[in-house]
Amino acid sequence: MKFLNIMTAAMLSLPLLTLTACGDDSKVEYITAPETPSEGEDDNSQEPVASSDYDELYRPQIHFTPKRNWMNDPNGMVYNDGIYHLFFQHNPSGNDWGNMSWGHATSSDMIHWEEQPVALKRDELGDIFSGCAVIDKDNTAGFGAGALVVFYTSADQYQQQSMAYSLDNGVTFTRYAGNPVIPSTLADFRDPKVFYHQESKQWVMALAKGWNYGIDFWGSSDLKSWKKLSEFTSPIDRCNKGQWECPDLLRMNFEGKEKWVLIVSVNPGGPAGGSGTMYFVGDFDGTNFTADSLDYPLWLDYGPDNYAGVTWSNTGDRTLLIGWMNNWNYAGATPTSPWRSAMTLPRELKLISYDGKPLLANTVAKEIDGIAGEWKDVSLGNVMPVEKAYQLRMTVDLSKNGSFTLYNEAGEKAEFTVNAAAGKLIMKRNASTGNTSFNGNFSLPSIQAPLNMEGAQVVLDIFVDGASVEVFTENGSMALTAIVFPGSLYNMVSADGISDIKVRNLNRIW
Ligand code: FRU
Repeated sequence: MKFLNIMTAAMLSLPLLTLTACGDDSKVEYITAPETPSEGEDDNSQEPVASSDYDELYRPQIHFTPKRNWMNDPNGMVYNDGIYHLFFQHNPSGNDWGNMSWGHATSSDMIHWEEQPVALKRDELGDIFSGCAVIDKDNTAGFGAGALVVFYTSADQYQQQSMAYSLDNGVTFTRYAGNPVIPSTLADFRDPKVFYHQESKQWVMALAKGWNYGIDFWGSSDLKSWKKLSEFTSPIDRCNKGQWECPDLLRMNFEGKEKWVLIVSVNPGGPAGGSGTMYFVGDFDGTNFTADSLDYPLWLDYGPDNYAGVTWSNTGDRTLLIGWMNNWNYAGATPTSPWRSAMTLPRELKLISYDGKPLLANTVAKEIDGIAGEWKDVSLGNVMPVEKAYQLRMTVDLSKNGSFTLYNEAGEKAEFTVNAAAGKLIMKRNASTGNTSFNGNFSLPSIQAPLNMEGAQVVLDIFVDGASVEVFTENGSMALTAIVFPGSLYNMVSADGISDIKVRNLNRIW
């Protein structure tokens, strides 16, 4: 038995081996493809990256995509010496999931990305599944002060945790000779996320337990030898909720006091079906994470396409996340070539107060301003003064219902309504949005997102690229991320019950 995931057989062209019933969900086992043998040290600095002009049909213009081939989760996110690193789950030799490796891209602003050679490929311990990176400033591991140390899951028959380090800011990596640093005989034990906990003077690692619905915390003083600290779980309905993946434990500020937030991706069982990202707010004492409430679930994003998101390490007071803008329900079938999948825009996370409780808000990181033009008034029903992507800002009066529609000359459209009484934004991602025929799970006629705010009006920020729409309330109390596949950009807007609609062009990043 190798790696278990939930997905339809059609989604990935991988062998379907077992089906285990759990309510309506089926557990599908798929096999990781054996590929590149290990060479111990990965010096890929000379490896060519295939060229692309990034203007194929459905190619995102303001979101990171690999030039070629399959991508899923963001990995190894760390800021170091002026560079934001974004590693990612990648198949270097195909446009389907498989042969899992870490692709790599770098940026000085989280907006413009330059793809780098593949950083880590499968070795004798298995595929290179998701993980993280930290900067070992004080040389606790002995690899050198300031070493960039990555942790990943070695996925084969069992899932074990391994590490590698780079002394040249991510150009070359050396795998640690003592891998795996956390051996295991568990089939579901993955996605290490590490941070330094000053008070207990140790590194802390969060690990997800998949279908065992839990997060383990492990501690280490030297990044190499680890001991289990504790385990967190929540009494959720196991048959309706999915496997737990990609955890991240964040120290945050809430009204001047410290609070901790545990992010967990779950698949399926997300708010729009399939993959979703939930979180718990609570406290961490260096050993245990305790949630204030196990009311479940709280969602980071109510759309279908923000999964496996984790935060960059080493960014000081800012908490910055990027997610995989896709959903395991249909990721393997999305109609793009020669690449598959994009990342979300980078998001800044804050704990705000709603209904007397902390709420994890996310808005697009301010670095987006670097590609933005001047705000202009929108003339409804006319082509907007935009090129490949844009941001809309509008005010919705909550004394009555409102609606707006983004559309193009071909009549393809994404329709939104604001149900004032219910305090919800509702998106129709149906066959009118463009190509939806590639997978039966893609069409979602009613994606519902609570606005999570009080007040007489709401300001919405809407980021539109050729193949995605990301909608936020101005303070980030609600996010709705959805990919779409219109033949051309929705470059017009109609609206009802909405005032003050402005638009600004967002320059393509390539
Ligand atoms: C989440 C995930 C992770 C795993 C990776 C494999 O999307 O299933 O749990 O490490 O993808 O590609």
